[in-house]
Amino acid sequence: MIELTVADDAEAAARTCAERVAEAIESARTQRGVAHVALAGGSTPARAYELLAGRVADWRGVHLWLGDERCVPLDHPDSNSVLVRGTLLARLPAGGPQPILHRVERAGDGDPPAAATAYAAELRGAVPGTPFPVLDFVLLGLGEDGHTASLFPDDPALEERERLVVAVRRRKPPPDGVTFTLPVLRGGRRIVVLTAGAAKAEAVAATLAPPSAHTPASLLGVGATVELIADRAAASA
Ligand code: 6PG
Repeated sequence: MIELTVADDAEAAARTCAERVAEAIESARTQRGVAHVALAGGSTPARAYELLAGRVADWRGVHLWLGDERCVPLDHPDSNSVLVRGTLLARLPAGGPQPILHRVERAGDGDPPAAATAYAAELRGAVPGTPFPVLDFVLLGLGEDGHTASLFPDDPALEERERLVVAVRRRKPPPDGVTFTLPVLRGGRRIVVLTAGAAKAEAVAATLAPPSAHTPASLLGVGATVELIADRAAASA
């Protein structure tokens, strides 16, 4: 099931998203002493990450994962881990406890399948849950074609039911990436898709329509509850 939350504008959507992530972190740390959060790439979540930096009192035991990553060098501007460092980590109080950012260490090695296998092993080793690791929070974005993470329309990766992370050819540059698979994304205790802007209006409508491989984000709601946070422009269709 996918439930739509409409925010007045992109800033309000980012604020609502940051509040959701902070709530999940506090709840997980209180209950289990640790929080595992998968973050989205792209550009939309940047403001939410900036706001999130000031909404969590204690970052100890917080593990940040990347729901997908581009296969570029780790310091490349296209790297999603660079996005997270430059928006969230850069705004944390200096000297305070830092979250652990699990980068896709082999993203820049020129071997996407090996990067996927290594990241899956790290995820499996750090996050409890069977048959799939259970993340406390999964934050995702939405592409104009309805892709989410690096799961693109009608891609065979949408059928994956065993592996946690797979290498994919992305239909949005850069061409190679690794992505969490649907079983991992759907297994999150809390799943939020954040989007904004009129260009995403058709994708939002398709995401709320019956699930289809033509719109990967719509598949997130199969067997899971998802909150889609959209500003008015993106929710206008
Ligand atoms: C990526 C993202 C991707 C992104 C959407 C939306 O690695 O590019 O994970 O799924 O969330 O493409 O991107 P924008 O937020 O830039 O519109």
